Amino acid sequence: MTDIARRNDTRRKVHIKTYGCQMNVYDTERILETLRPLGFAASDSPGGADLVILNTCHIREKASEKVYSELGRLRALQARKAAAGGRMMLAVAGCVAQAEGAEILARAPQVDMVLGPQTYHRLPAMIARAEKAGDGRRTRIVETDFPVEDKFDHLPEGRSAAGVSAFLTIQEGCDKFCTFCVVPYTRGAEQSRPAAAVLAEARALVGCGVREITLLGQNVNAYHGAGPDGRDWRLGRLARALAEIDGLERIRYTTSHPRDMDDDLIDAHGGVPALMPFLHLPVQSGSDRILAAMNRRHTADDFRRIVARLFAARPDLALSSDFIVGFPGETDEDFAATLKLVTETGFAAAFCFKYSPRPGTPAADLADAVPETVKADRLAALLQLIDARREAFNHGCVGRRLPVLIEKPGRRPGQVVGRSPYLQPVHVDGDAALIGRVLDCDIDDLRAHSLFGRIAPGVLPRVRRERACA
Ligand code: 5AD
Ligand code: SF4
Repeated sequence: MTDIARRNDTRRKVHIKTYGCQMNVYDTERILETLRPLGFAASDSPGGADLVILNTCHIREKASEKVYSELGRLRALQARKAAAGGRMMLAVAGCVAQAEGAEILARAPQVDMVLGPQTYHRLPAMIARAEKAGDGRRTRIVETDFPVEDKFDHLPEGRSAAGVSAFLTIQEGCDKFCTFCVVPYTRGAEQSRPAAAVLAEARALVGCGVREITLLGQNVNAYHGAGPDGRDWRLGRLARALAEIDGLERIRYTTSHPRDMDDDLIDAHGGVPALMPFLHLPVQSGSDRILAAMNRRHTADDFRRIVARLFAARPDLALSSDFIVGFPGETDEDFAATLKLVTETGFAAAFCFKYSPRPGTPAADLADAVPETVKADRLAALLQLIDARREAFNHGCVGRRLPVLIEKPGRRPGQVVGRSPYLQPVHVDGDAALIGRVLDCDIDDLRAHSLFGRIAPGVLPRVRRERACA
């Protein structure tokens, strides 16, 4: 097949199964953009696909085992395709690929390619190599190095977007080395993209009808990209520049570390209206002893002070966090300190996890494991407290008028769904032509975790067609 014929050939199907965080969702979108010029079209299911990619996450317990099980299931589909005279190439990408490397090829003979998160731009070349059938033998490839070239310089320029809200990765990796966490090993050292590249990608997204951008990074507020003025830009400066893009209504960022919450970023929460008043700021524990053992490099009081300054800058801020219960050596007293922090701090939401060791991390070698039953009890107690806070926060929204970014049609005709500034889904009656607009809505009900309301009187829905994107 000639290059041109291949470019126009959309018969090849690629299915990507995405695990884990929003950064993987972003990576999946970028991988699809890389593959489009090769004639690959995205397919919702692996059945019949020419290429299946598992974009894996290593942060959860037994992550690798889950990937091997999935590979086992895919083997049957691969055999079926081979029996019909076709070929299904199989690739493992993401953090499990980075962590396991060649081990995957050894344990899963059906896999053709193993590629770490920093090598996605090399995928077309890997496919070309893997496709070479040379005297009946397969070429199997592992690329898990951290290449000198920056993948963002080699991924396709411009962006396509499917909705009004999009992710944009601005930094990757982490230098914090929390003792429980695999990220510094799977995603490597902290690296920030130049501000000009971020701004260009944001403008391209807005040109495609995107109205909300969530800036992503494993440690996003550690951002320190080269600015167009030759200075080092931190996240506050970047948020201010993004806010000037005409048509970009909302900016969010995740996930942050308390130590990187600098003055300028806190000020931006007060002074940049497009920066949404919802912040996910993991604290992990309320006990200084455990925070030290986790190598978090801040105390519970440091966290309290940061939160107080954030609330002073933006009083309606909705604060979310991550907690780990049952870290090795965590006593009843330590856990009580976590509950105290939750009770005293105005959290609107949080994710709570039972500690489980990740092979290769320092905490995995710690003695003094907390018994499973104790972990389960602590998790239940913490969840109860967090759920009550979430419920109280959501109830507090009923009766308020909130700006809602309308995102998609609702379940029933004549209904649309959007998001409040605090990320809650909001259901209102309205036409699909309103998608992409930020409208004031009067909230009058809460069901499960969703708000229900009406477009406020006087908000005359003038229909504006968004520019279509190729
Ligand atoms: N055990 C339990 N939870 C963990 N997390 C990360 N590593 C572990 C682990 N070993 C949680 C942290 C982090 C979130 C993404 O996952 O709370 O903030
Ligand atoms: Fe992991 Fe976050 Fe700690 Fe980095 S800051 S090591 S990503 S938990």
